[in-house]
Amino acid sequence: MTNTHAIVIDKVKESKIAKTDFDNLTFGKTFTDHMLECTWRDGEWQSVEIKPYGPIEVEPSCKVFHYGQAIFEGMKAFKDATGDVFLFRPEDNWQRFNASAKRLAMPEVPEEIFMEGLKKLVALDKDWVRYGEGLSLYLRPFMISSENGVAAAPSTEYKFMIIMSPAFAYYKGDVRVIIASEFSRAADGGVGYAKAAGNYAASFYPNNLAIQEGYQQVIWTDAASHEYLEEAGTMNIFVRIGDSLFTAPHNDRILNGVTRRSVIQMAKDHGIHVEERRISVNEIREAAKDGSLKEIFGSGTAAVIVPIKGFKHKDFKYELPQLDDSYASRLKEALKDIQYNRAEDKHGWRVKI
Ligand code: COI
Repeated sequence: MTNTHAIVIDKVKESKIAKTDFDNLTFGKTFTDHMLECTWRDGEWQSVEIKPYGPIEVEPSCKVFHYGQAIFEGMKAFKDATGDVFLFRPEDNWQRFNASAKRLAMPEVPEEIFMEGLKKLVALDKDWVRYGEGLSLYLRPFMISSENGVAAAPSTEYKFMIIMSPAFAYYKGDVRVIIASEFSRAADGGVGYAKAAGNYAASFYPNNLAIQEGYQQVIWTDAASHEYLEEAGTMNIFVRIGDSLFTAPHNDRILNGVTRRSVIQMAKDHGIHVEERRISVNEIREAAKDGSLKEIFGSGTAAVIVPIKGFKHKDFKYELPQLDDSYASRLKEALKDIQYNRAEDKHGWRVKI
């Protein structure tokens, strides 16, 4: 694309919204009427198109199928009681998207294309954002390498797209986890901090083994020693010992979660002592034994804030206590109040559409 990033809009003839059952949504299965597509070719971004959601045509040799050059973001739009629609910290997602792009040798997406395109797309499909407990519009910007040919080298063509799906929170039932002692999600110098599609693919097999044992997720530990907690793939992890809250420091193996950063800030706002520091599995096991382990919870865009009911590490199993006033529920309410425009936005996290 040359000088101006004009956005071309081709609207659907008939909306699918009347046929959508908003009370029975399965996460990530229903998509809105429109999507955004923008191609990078000859070293520049071409025109931005917003068009009816539907199949895209690619050849079998398309590089993404062979080398997995693919990244994505998870974001949400919320509607308030008066019908206004807000994005939550979208700049943070745009910046992380480009950090992922850089690590995967993909072109960065200019702010104008990402933000203006996103805002126009959400505005066009804003009837798909519903006001209701836990309801939001899940936004999925992603980029794939789209050049044809199986030479193992970065692509000369990429597609940046945004699709959108009305959703409730990701986890419906109780969540219990296995703390990893064998498999790893990410290694030093790798792509763990990037939202690279392959990070998720690599987690499916160990996660399936956990599911077979009756657990819903794996909390990954550091690849070198399996001694320190990292993250859970779909969520960052917080641990409450006594009255203090801990989360692993962000590094090149751990996703720098937007919800994670929001939780840290909100905890500070609530006068909770919160620290980013390494948490060893041994510390968790000892705190479980002496009763000082009060809570473990996950945070993520899709997941929101999810209490972990219990965990297993090797042969050690533990059920977390049920607390009346947990940090997880306090912080989740505070987060929702900001997202649904029910509370003051003192950190400037809401962006009105
Ligand atoms: C998100 O929270 O948006 C994520 O990317 C997790 C996803 C795998 C559902």
